[in-house]
Amino acid sequence: MSNRKQSLLEWSLDQLIKQYRKDESELFYKVEEVISASRLENKDGIRPNLIKKTESENGWHLIFNLPPDITLDDFEKRRKSFQTFTNSIVEFKNNGPIIIMSVYRKKLKEIIPFHFDPRPYLKTMLAPLPIGYSPTGKLAVTDMASVHHMLISGVTGYGKTSGLLGMVTSLLIAGCEVSVIDKKAIDFPILSDYLEVAITENETETMLKKTVKEMEIRAEKLRDAKAQKIQQVKDMKYKVVIIDEAADIESNNSWEAIDKLVRKARAGGIGLIIATQKPSANTSKGFTDIRSNLAGRLCYYVNGDSTDSQIALGKGNSRAAELPAIAGRCIWKWKTEEMLQSMFLDTEEAIKILQEKNIPKREVKQDEQSPVLLPPG
Ligand SMILES: Nc1ncnc2c1ncn2[C@@H]1O[C@H](COP(=O)(O)OP(=O)(O)OP(=O)(O)O)[C@@H](O)[C@H]1O
Ligand SMILES: [Mg+2]
Repeated sequence: MSNRKQSLLEWSLDQLIKQYRKDESELFYKVEEVISASRLENKDGIRPNLIKKTESENGWHLIFNLPPDITLDDFEKRRKSFQTFTNSIVEFKNNGPIIIMSVYRKKLKEIIPFHFDPRPYLKTMLAPLPIGYSPTGKLAVTDMASVHHMLISGVTGYGKTSGLLGMVTSLLIAGCEVSVIDKKAIDFPILSDYLEVAITENETETMLKKTVKEMEIRAEKLRDAKAQKIQQVKDMKYKVVIIDEAADIESNNSWEAIDKLVRKARAGGIGLIIATQKPSANTSKGFTDIRSNLAGRLCYYVNGDSTDSQIALGKGNSRAAELPAIAGRCIWKWKTEEMLQSMFLDTEEAIKILQEKNIPKREVKQDEQSPVLLPPG
């Protein structure tokens, strides 16, 4: 009996290994098939050569030697086919004449609740900002003070505001100062105990002009202290101005102030995060002037529109058009580029976190109008 049991166990294990080997060789076969069917080859018909396969924590790294004339771009253009045929998330990295294709077998979670502890990051960062989880399960965190300014885009209902709430919360618990322009006036006024919020055109213009003034004062303080970094000046905090749905801003004065800020504010430790559905000149003339100064790009679902993806991520970059219709799924581009799932947060939970962390409520200054609270929904 025990022999039979043992052999049954061995048999099942054997089957499992066989299935695993079958899946694995099918995966390699499919990758080769896409290369062949999509004619990923140079003009002499030479294809990238798969020289090594190494197992990763969530799939495989396939290493290719490139023939002359084949570049990372040739792989990127075929990402959709690689992803469809292997039923996996696929990313590429380039190292000289070598491409590393990472194939992630496990799916990215569709909802990841917000959780962030900035303390370990504060050792090296001034304004740590969690962007989202990668397919390997790693949280991508960037320093707003290095990115300087950021553009967030994507069609309605796929996570811009939820992402911004996470950013606001993270920045506040990291000890940064935050101001928000929210002309929809639904989400951020609820957090007005912790941040300055502008909801009308007038308030927006006032806040932006005030920030330009602050930028000048900060620059002066830095000069006086003969300091290059704001950490060297007493009581100066990194400040982030967030604009949710920037296309709603109408006044030229406001756009002029935004333009000044994205050109000059970084030296004084002020960063801008600007969100909008479509950052094109058709939506608002202002975007044409400021876009090139927003180095960090975060793009959520664009409904398969490669023009929108290129407006958001840069010319020739259609990667956001390949995103599945999943809220929170995004492409983050700054120096490198990756697909992430941003953490989900709503205002109720954000308030709870800020209360739990004992984040001090702000004192309302004389020159500020207090925002009118609207009922949610
Ligand atoms: N990171 C996320 N993970 C899971 N679900 C999310 C995430 N972000 C948003 N959602 C879902 O999508 C809905 C819409 O999100 P959100 O309000 O952030 O979209 P938006 O891009 O700001 O849209 P709009 O342009 O209309 O303002 C949320 O109510 C929530 O149900
Ligand atoms: Mg929104």
